[in-house]
Amino acid sequence: MPRLRLPTPPLPAALQPRPKRPGANNGPTKPLDQATEAGVTVVDWIDERTSLSGGVRWMLFRKVPKGTNWFYTLGSAAMFAFLSQAVTGVFLAMYYDPSPTRAYESIRYITNEAFLGEFVRGMHKWGSTVMVVLVFLHMGRTFFFGAYKYPRELNWVIGVVLLILTMTMSFTGYLLPFDQRSYWATIVGVNINGTGPLIGPYLSDFLRAGPEFGATTLSRFYAIHMLLVPGLIAAMIGAHLYLVAKLGTTAPPWLKAKPDQAPTESA
Ligand code: HEM
Repeated sequence: MPRLRLPTPPLPAALQPRPKRPGANNGPTKPLDQATEAGVTVVDWIDERTSLSGGVRWMLFRKVPKGTNWFYTLGSAAMFAFLSQAVTGVFLAMYYDPSPTRAYESIRYITNEAFLGEFVRGMHKWGSTVMVVLVFLHMGRTFFFGAYKYPRELNWVIGVVLLILTMTMSFTGYLLPFDQRSYWATIVGVNINGTGPLIGPYLSDFLRAGPEFGATTLSRFYAIHMLLVPGLIAAMIGAHLYLVAKLGTTAPPWLKAKPDQAPTESA
């Protein structure tokens, strides 16, 4: 089948070179002009050395199908929830101590004494629920719009991995305050993992860092929660977005393409 090429998307207006005015001193005069020129100069300077602008334009300037609506924002909303978790998590990590004897006290300090600690902890705690809800709503949108079908099956599979990783974040984060509720809930959760077929017992041993819930369990959960899984989520979101940019988004199922509007091949 011949390859269909869409026309190259235009540069945004702010980056277009200004037309020269005859007779005038064509240098930038007003502060706003100067700021625009400075922006263009910086972008030009970086682009001359990296040729990144082609990739950025490929990623950002897309043709969007007719009928695109607010439900298409759920994926981006989930991504921003993840970014908010990453930022608030960094500040919590500045005070949190993953030791069985000091974890509870460090959380108490964050909540009652650290500057804006209660606010940042609240954002992280509520943000985790928001992220889970958004990921499920986004999955529902892609399912009901048939976006899992050819050629987007791989993006659906990456999405399933993202869903599991998001749930892993919630599960591992729940233990960190190390109070009675989080301790016993985690014991129940690890036991449930242990009942899984084949890998269940290995998984629960891995999570506990041994056959019993011990002193290293907490630091293992912490490492999974703040290093391993966020890194994997960031990489998976990168792959997910690459495929969204490459394949485009699906039109709503109630819109049918008219045969005479099919894209034509251009040079
Ligand atoms: C951390 C979790 C996730 C993030 C940040 C994320 C992000 C995104 C974004 C920004 C888009 C493009 C805009 C949109 O359609 O909303 C998208 C599209 C898509 N996502 Fe996700 N996603 C996540 C999880 C999932 C899950 C759990 C699934 C399904 C199991 C999934 C399947 C898809 C599919 C199939 C598309 C293509 C949609 C289309 O072509 O219309 N994603 N995702």
